[in-house]
Amino acid sequence: MSSTAFEWKPVFEPLAFARQLSTRTAQPPLSLAEIQRGVTETAARPLNRATTLPAQAYTSEEFFAWELNHVLRPGWQCVAHVSQVPNPGDFLNLDLLGEPLIVVHGKDDAIRVLSRVCPHRSMDIMPEGFGYDGHSPAEARDGKPDCGRTRLFLCPYHAWTFELDGQLKACPEMHEAEGFCRDDFFLKPFRSEIWQGFIFVNLDGTAPPLADGLADMAADLAAFRLAELKLVIAREWDCPFNWKVLVENFMESYHHLGIHHKTLQPMMPARDTWTEQERRHYVRAHLPYKDSVREEYLAFEARGDFSAALPPLPGLNAAQKSEWGLFLLHPTFLLATAPDRVIWYRLQPLGPDRLKLLTTTLMAPGAAARDNFESLRQNAAKQLVDFHLEDMEVCTAVQRGFYASGWQPGRLSHLEMTVWLFHRYLAARIRDAWPTDDYEPAPSQRP
Ligand code: FES
Ligand SMILES: [Fe+2]
Repeated sequence: MSSTAFEWKPVFEPLAFARQLSTRTAQPPLSLAEIQRGVTETAARPLNRATTLPAQAYTSEEFFAWELNHVLRPGWQCVAHVSQVPNPGDFLNLDLLGEPLIVVHGKDDAIRVLSRVCPHRSMDIMPEGFGYDGHSPAEARDGKPDCGRTRLFLCPYHAWTFELDGQLKACPEMHEAEGFCRDDFFLKPFRSEIWQGFIFVNLDGTAPPLADGLADMAADLAAFRLAELKLVIAREWDCPFNWKVLVENFMESYHHLGIHHKTLQPMMPARDTWTEQERRHYVRAHLPYKDSVREEYLAFEARGDFSAALPPLPGLNAAQKSEWGLFLLHPTFLLATAPDRVIWYRLQPLGPDRLKLLTTTLMAPGAAARDNFESLRQNAAKQLVDFHLEDMEVCTAVQRGFYASGWQPGRLSHLEMTVWLFHRYLAARIRDAWPTDDYEPAPSQRP
């Protein structure tokens, strides 16, 4: 069992500006077809004429239902990093797009994603707090809610038990049920794949294989050895805004010069950030360090004194040590690489104006062995919270803007190319295609 310290705080509560969304929008209601037409027309503009999406794309229940069935459930959703379930018997629970799920490390070493819905009478076999009063074999791990270890799963309702691969193991008092066959009942497995150490699930089973079209992204990430990293910081946030607001916010760095002018702008000025060519399944941006920061970092590394900071991840080249990298693997996998850590955001869209978010940090496997690890981890956790609080403020206020009669479509800067590429992805899904299938990819902003 890993002894890595781990922080998993409860859902974020008091935002300085608590949720003030009106249930009535001043925007005229649009039909699904009208919103789709708006998205398609927006995405058809060239980058130098790009605009924002219609407000209704972020507020309409009908459009969110379309996204569920045509973007989110058919896509690959990342649910965990392998370091969160390191040993056989380790599991982690989450609810994703209406599905109560268990991510479990089996006795055969396979990691599976199973439904938590009992095949007897549809009880959630492990509702919050595991739904047991001590008679279950499952126990919590490291004091984390929804994260545990077990040798089998027990449904608390009528005590049916299941193997870690979901097979029904035992069910009391079923001998009089005519024709009942134990093998017919199991916890439903969802299609899952592990890519670069991250566990993905495809809820409707229709997605193309995950690694298809990701060779460039895998090559770019190879030096970070993501599968070997350890997830050492995790914090949940209850977000009163649309999932696309977060994706757009995470991927564009134009806002460094606004809301992050004290935190990220001094390190990675917005003006220097740039986006790679359009890809079928992902978007990739670069956030170079300011010259003075890069020189300071390289000098600091040369001194080898890491008493107050994390050393760079081993094996990175000079370019990788001089910038942060941003990745969006459509539709919701958000990753930021820094020289000394990797930041991953897990998104659980709940509705047009609701999102559950887990912000995490992964560090090198050896980091936990350092004497000063706990203070470094706490510093990293504070940094993650500090800049995310800035993002929470703007994203919350942006969602409010979508409901107002004062809302108007905006124009995008070239520094928001990632947002434009994301819109092109949505438009491709509307016509049941992928970006670049039926047109030339948009070129990189750097040769
Ligand atoms: S609902 Fe699970 S055992 Fe009855
Ligand atoms: Fe931000």
